[in-house]
Amino acid sequence: MPATIVVGLQWGDEGKGKTTDLLADSVSMVVRYQGGDNAGHTVVVGDAVFKLHLVPSGVLQPHITPVIGNGVVVNPRTLLREMDGLTERGIDTTRIRVSRNAHVIMPYHVALDGASETRLAGSGAGIGTTRRGIGPTYADRASRSGIRMGDLLDPAFLRTRLAQVLPERNRLLAENGEPVFEIDALVAEAAGWGERLRGQIVDTALLVQDALAAGEHVLLEGAQGTLLDIDHGSYPYVTSSNPTAGGACTGSGVGPRQIGSVIGVLKAYSTRVGSGPFPTELLDEVGRHLSVRGNEVGTTTGRQRRCGWLDTASLRHVVALNSVTSIMINKIDVLTGVPELRICTGYRVDGAPVRWPLTLGELERAEPVYEVFPGWEADLTKVRSERDLPPEAARYLDAVESHAGVPIEIVSVGPERTETFRRVPKGFPSGLPAGIA
Ligand code: GDP
Ligand code: IMO
Ligand code: MG
Repeated sequence: MPATIVVGLQWGDEGKGKTTDLLADSVSMVVRYQGGDNAGHTVVVGDAVFKLHLVPSGVLQPHITPVIGNGVVVNPRTLLREMDGLTERGIDTTRIRVSRNAHVIMPYHVALDGASETRLAGSGAGIGTTRRGIGPTYADRASRSGIRMGDLLDPAFLRTRLAQVLPERNRLLAENGEPVFEIDALVAEAAGWGERLRGQIVDTALLVQDALAAGEHVLLEGAQGTLLDIDHGSYPYVTSSNPTAGGACTGSGVGPRQIGSVIGVLKAYSTRVGSGPFPTELLDEVGRHLSVRGNEVGTTTGRQRRCGWLDTASLRHVVALNSVTSIMINKIDVLTGVPELRICTGYRVDGAPVRWPLTLGELERAEPVYEVFPGWEADLTKVRSERDLPPEAARYLDAVESHAGVPIEIVSVGPERTETFRRVPKGFPSGLPAGIA
């Protein structure tokens, strides 16, 4: 059975956690392929709310093997805290496997991220990162100065590596007036993480390949979203990895021809956390409606998310970049009560139509071109069939699908697992993998 990718189509927080948990019903393994604890994926089952940062969102389904792939950057402090929290709530975390090749977010990476943000914020150029050490850890990976999860199992080797790389990190911290780190304390703490995770740190590419060879269905869970991709997003206001479908292959050890389907996760409007251009941002009453009704507060940092109209001009390109075969749209219920809805279908810069992607300079000057739709007043949270949607909501979905150019097949009307229904695409064949319930 080929693998399926779950990828965010906007600036993150599209509802990938809910989507992954839902699809996990029909697969046997869920693999996180990039990002780290900058992610905050929410899964709601009945009254229970789970906020996951590193543990794959399939963990709540007992038949799933949750895997943290080689492309993820792992803060073992967060991971162990998260595992302990899940264990307390009766979830078996001994099933979790972590790639020995995944890079470790060390305490000095977190400190360096914070120092850089504080310094840049002074000049108004801060990225607005989650301050989790994501950028510095990926930078050390690329410059071959990183510590990997497998290194935690060998304290002598770990000490040698830290002796090589720590002085330069400490120098940078000291330059920024930050406290420096002692090697003995770091080795002791890191070896403790290794002891706790021994038996769970393995070669996960092998694990995934064995599952695929045995005919199992593997789900690859993205973090962040395509517009935050380090290559395809609005650089430098991006994260430091590739959330796009290509990143799913490199970050999990799955070949492109082993991918059967790519499920794009779309929020019915746009949100963005942190700095960077957002041409369809709403700073008015409608923006406040989306923020309050959508409870748009960051899962990881508690920051207020910026809200705006849905952007299908970027969506068409994002669908192509990821080879999206099918879309799950979330939070359509949040649009209830907005009298008139808009969808951005294109951009003009200096009066002339332009095609996505835009440069940073163009993005700052871009004027969105909108299509206008009538809103609806009915509460959608109890809707469990396309037939029961108000005609205006059905029309909104039809328009988004037609602009996206790929089928919208799953619709979510509330945070809870069951607040979901299937939609028949209009004029597109299904792009869902076989066996998805
Ligand atoms: P992720 O990072 O992509 O997994 O998304 P987050 O979990 O950070 O943010 C999505 C938020 O929307 C969470 O609080 C979810 O519980 C919630 N959510 C997901 N789907 C829906 C939906 O259809 N309607 C509403 N009202 N909330 C939803
Ligand atoms: P999930 O997986 C939304 C944003 C940060 C910042 C930028 C860089 O929950 O969708 P970083 O800490 O990665 O160096 O910050 O990326 N960001 C997210 N925004 N959802 C996320 O994850 C995000 N992870 C990072 O706010 O603008
Ligand atoms: Mg999130």
